[in-house]
Amino acid sequence: METLTPQPTYTLADLDEVLATESQIAERVSALARDISEHYGSQDITVVCVLSGALVFTADLIRKLEVPTRLDCIRADSYGNATEASQPPKIRNPLKTDIKDRHVLIVDDILDTGNTLVAILRHLRQAEPASLATCVLLDKKERRQVELEADFSGFEIPDAFVVGYGLDFAEHYRNLKCIGSLKPEFQSAVQ
Ligand code: IMP
Ligand code: MG
Repeated sequence: METLTPQPTYTLADLDEVLATESQIAERVSALARDISEHYGSQDITVVCVLSGALVFTADLIRKLEVPTRLDCIRADSYGNATEASQPPKIRNPLKTDIKDRHVLIVDDILDTGNTLVAILRHLRQAEPASLATCVLLDKKERRQVELEADFSGFEIPDAFVVGYGLDFAEHYRNLKCIGSLKPEFQSAVQ
């Protein structure tokens, strides 16, 4: 007798539930860009995209900003190929640009335990920026392990492992246009 296990397709079919559609995301990203533009006025800002999850969000967000914008990227690895983070997050890829005396806006895909953003904030503070703010597309408030709120936040979501619009499981699903919860049977670490 052979046992068959469900195989992921890495498409919409692997989602349990869609939490944010393409148009809901677009509308919210535009609103966030308006808030950010209003907040900074004519000040020059440096957007720091947290790779790879925030890549899609950042690409859409910066094209809606109406402030002079520079872009840099940082990488913090905490997940590997699992859905639970291994502590503490490591900062990879130092910034390419000098952010001393600059207004820095860190853009991340999701604020979960908060450990990643805390590590990035601590790291960037050493470079003495004029100001340091955070913008996240998703916020899983009930999972927080540290005291941290994003300055700009897109959607609050329940405690589920989500993928799409840049968010991955083991590097898959980043290309989906919507955000949805991944079926539990596809969340095993080895794939
Ligand atoms: P934190 O350090 O627990 O706040 O985790 C933040 C990082 O973990 C995010 O930048 C994501 O890359 C990743 N992450 C947290 N929750 C999810 C999820 O539900 N799906 C995909 N990635 C996630
Ligand atoms: Mg990330």
